[in-house]
Amino acid sequence: MSNITWHTSAVGCDERRGSSCDRGMTIWLTGLSGSGKSTVAVDVEKKLVGSGVAAFTLDADNTRHGLNADLGFTAEDRAENVRRLGEVARLMADAGLVVLVSVISPYRASREAVRNAHREAGIPFAEVYVETSLAECERRDPKGLYARVRAGEIPGFTGIDDPYEEPLDPELRIGTPGETIEHSAGLVMNLIAALSSPA
Ligand code: ADX
Repeated sequence: MSNITWHTSAVGCDERRGSSCDRGMTIWLTGLSGSGKSTVAVDVEKKLVGSGVAAFTLDADNTRHGLNADLGFTAEDRAENVRRLGEVARLMADAGLVVLVSVISPYRASREAVRNAHREAGIPFAEVYVETSLAECERRDPKGLYARVRAGEIPGFTGIDDPYEEPLDPELRIGTPGETIEHSAGLVMNLIAALSSPA
């Protein structure tokens, strides 16, 4: 980056967060459209906030209305969408929040870049693969999008005629057949608890 110098904060993470550095983290939920990422994220966020933990859901459908309103669904735009969400999540996690990111994020390389940026910053990061099958996502079709895709109205849809690269080694897999939202959310809560406790 030319002519731009990093300005280090005078406030350490201990001071910013009160007593400990162990809370801010990014939980990255990846999976197909309609897989349940946002439903689980919102449920976990509610549980965390209810128990006094500062948490926030960064939902890609929502950020595409503002921060990422200039982006579409080309490969370049999807990569940029993920890069920006990764950066925002890292900043928010650094400020002490548990950040739940809900975004298809179809490319392995983009997700790895976000993971590496968190590692370099010393901020906990975990990838949660919401592995609901395409058949089940299409059966649910919560936004009626798959029907429109099959009618030929939305070309380049993830999982249909655009790629989704499954995580090879996610910290957690949820969304197996028959699993309730409550159970999935519980598994994510356990993951967060494990990442919060000192190693
Ligand atoms: S990503 O590929 O860039 O990670 P993102 O999670 O932000 O996708 O947005 C996905 C949402 O946009 C879907 O849940 C769906 O509602 C909508 N959408 C619209 N067009 C497409 C498309 N071509 N592929 C996937 N999702 C799409």
